[in-house]
Amino acid sequence: MSRLDVTECYQGISFCGHLHTQESLQYATNFQFQDTDTLIVTYPKSGTTWMQQIVSLVSSHGDATRVQTEPNWSRAPWLEQYYFCDLLKVQQGPRLITTHLPYHLLASALQGSKAKVIYVARNPKDVAVSYYHFHKMANFLPDPGTFEEFLNAFLDGTVHFGSWFSHVKGWTNNANNVKNFLYITYEEMWQDLRGSVEKVSRFLRIPLQDQELAAAEKHCCFSSMQGNSMVNYTLIPQEIMDHSKGKFMRKGKIGDWKNMFSEEQSRLFDAVLRTQLSESSLTFVWECA
Ligand code: A3P
Repeated sequence: MSRLDVTECYQGISFCGHLHTQESLQYATNFQFQDTDTLIVTYPKSGTTWMQQIVSLVSSHGDATRVQTEPNWSRAPWLEQYYFCDLLKVQQGPRLITTHLPYHLLASALQGSKAKVIYVARNPKDVAVSYYHFHKMANFLPDPGTFEEFLNAFLDGTVHFGSWFSHVKGWTNNANNVKNFLYITYEEMWQDLRGSVEKVSRFLRIPLQDQELAAAEKHCCFSSMQGNSMVNYTLIPQEIMDHSKGKFMRKGKIGDWKNMFSEEQSRLFDAVLRTQLSESSLTFVWECA
């Protein structure tokens, strides 16, 4: 078997070679968006699959048929992955697209576009913990080493998809350059799922009746998604994701970082966060929690 964990480097950022090629990355950066497109943007492990589920359910007015029969990677394919073009050809209706790309790689493709962009951010400490566990089960990602080693790589921005700090700053600092932009956090979705579904429905201009909202909420809560093979990644073969080493739908909590970080690691992280975001006007929900 060929190695799955090969790295593809594009414009100084590393990507997993199992899913990305130079051609697929170049195609993504030159993509022709349509005004009817919805683009979900996240740094990995920030609630991507969750938002894919929310948008799918809002679009179907709470009807769960599609989220129970079509995997998320086909319903909301990743722009930068090599099979994106093939999936796009068979998509019906308005296109729902996902990406982990940083803003600067999509800035020119999005210029002047009225595509709706939803950016989901999550407490980076929880992102780091979730990403670390994901590396342990995903055979297409490099061995993360110890948590300490992984955390250093995360803070240095040398992990796949680059720096979390650059990703969040890039997208949020350029929010005004994207015509239709919604910023939402994992924490907000966690604290008020119903309100978050409503927020997405307002942004997409798809008004939902109360019972449609309730149905949408039911199918995007953690317990429902954990048991849904169309989103919990159990359809992925063992040699690609080793399900004996962990679950994709792992904990679905906020503040799980406290179980993993030492005091010293937390202090270092806070110091990097302060420096990196010093010129940003962002206030994060998790800072107030
Ligand atoms: P944990 O590893 O902390 O459990 P992504 O889809 O961007 O890869 O993010 C995966 C993370 O989102 C995982 O976090 C996963 O459990 C969490 N997640 C997915 N669906 C969720 C939901 N409905 N509610 C809460 N967390 C969810």
